[in-house]
Amino acid sequence: MSLQWFRMPRDVVFGTGTLEYLKQVKGSKAFISMGKGSMKTNGVLDQVLSYLKEAGIESTVFDGVESDPSIDTVYRGTVKMKEFAPDLIIGLGGCSSIDAAKAMWVFYEYPNLKFKDIKDPFTIPELRKKAKFIAIPSTSGTGTEVTCVAVITDNQTGIKYPLASYEITPDIAIVDPEICKTMPPNITADTGMDALSHSFEAYVSTMASDYTDLFAIESIKMIFQWLPKAYDNGENIEARTKMHVAQNFAGLAFSNAILGLVHSMSHKCNTKVPLSHGRCNAILMPPVIQYNAKTAGSRYAEIARNLGLAGSNDQELVASLVETLRKMNASFSIPSNLKEAGLSEASFLAELQETAEAALGDPCTGMNPRKPSVEDIMEIYKAAYYGNDVTI
Ligand SMILES: [Fe+2]
Repeated sequence: MSLQWFRMPRDVVFGTGTLEYLKQVKGSKAFISMGKGSMKTNGVLDQVLSYLKEAGIESTVFDGVESDPSIDTVYRGTVKMKEFAPDLIIGLGGCSSIDAAKAMWVFYEYPNLKFKDIKDPFTIPELRKKAKFIAIPSTSGTGTEVTCVAVITDNQTGIKYPLASYEITPDIAIVDPEICKTMPPNITADTGMDALSHSFEAYVSTMASDYTDLFAIESIKMIFQWLPKAYDNGENIEARTKMHVAQNFAGLAFSNAILGLVHSMSHKCNTKVPLSHGRCNAILMPPVIQYNAKTAGSRYAEIARNLGLAGSNDQELVASLVETLRKMNASFSIPSNLKEAGLSEASFLAELQETAEAALGDPCTGMNPRKPSVEDIMEIYKAAYYGNDVTI
């Protein structure tokens, strides 16, 4: 028997104004996890509180989630969650707010667990004995509202851990593009490129299936069409709507096909350079595609054909794809390599082997279409650092 699956939230509610769906939610006490930023100033939090009140739900807000949430923040939020004892947990805002809430949810349901008990993939025990989870994303990137993943950072080492379990896939995802309108262009670009990297990695993953291919290819086509428009004019609600759906499709694809080397390498080098996750991925995509093309060239060529790129054989199509991604990065003012992004050459070279070893051990490496060695990953990092082609 070849057992495959496609898992997603029970409800994905989408479209302009769907935040109002909260009026129909069943529950008695909602714990809202968020950051200190735009959700307060742009009135979204007030709307959320008002809709929950209309639904007869008492709410409390934990607004202490920082960007790249740490284990300490998760533990702090869990203390508040235990005191309030909610039956609904709401992650509101960027992926950090939602990911932190997912981790708090685990420790709320299992107070005796520690981070080390759940950091390995698919080790989280059965949830939903105390609460259900609603995710409301304000960026169009990680798709965390539909995924089995939460990225938490160890504040001692700076290393990012992708917690993975279908237990932390939310119950309800509210995908309302109105919430994204205030995203500035650089965050629009970075989060959009993160979504693109999800679909690329899902499409060439060793766990790709007909189901994940469907969402991956469609999201790639939508991102190429609509991300430049959302970047140029954040008020373009059609572009915001298409990007919010596209990143959600990318999330559905990678939550089931998982990821690959772009994410393994990004998780481990992103601590050393002042780049957002999406921006780091955008720089890593061209060299990883060149490396993977030896075994997954035909899959990348299919992507290129779907985008209408030039090329009469797989090799030419892959080259067109890499060139197109490089031009896309430049159009969003994303640095073309890690050196240009501000990583010092001395520290890059000094930590290269250690970083490559850590990337090899990242859970995402297992689904990469080409099995890398530490030396291979070092070569890809070097190409990403200097902006060279990968030739191995
Ligand atoms: Fe990502």
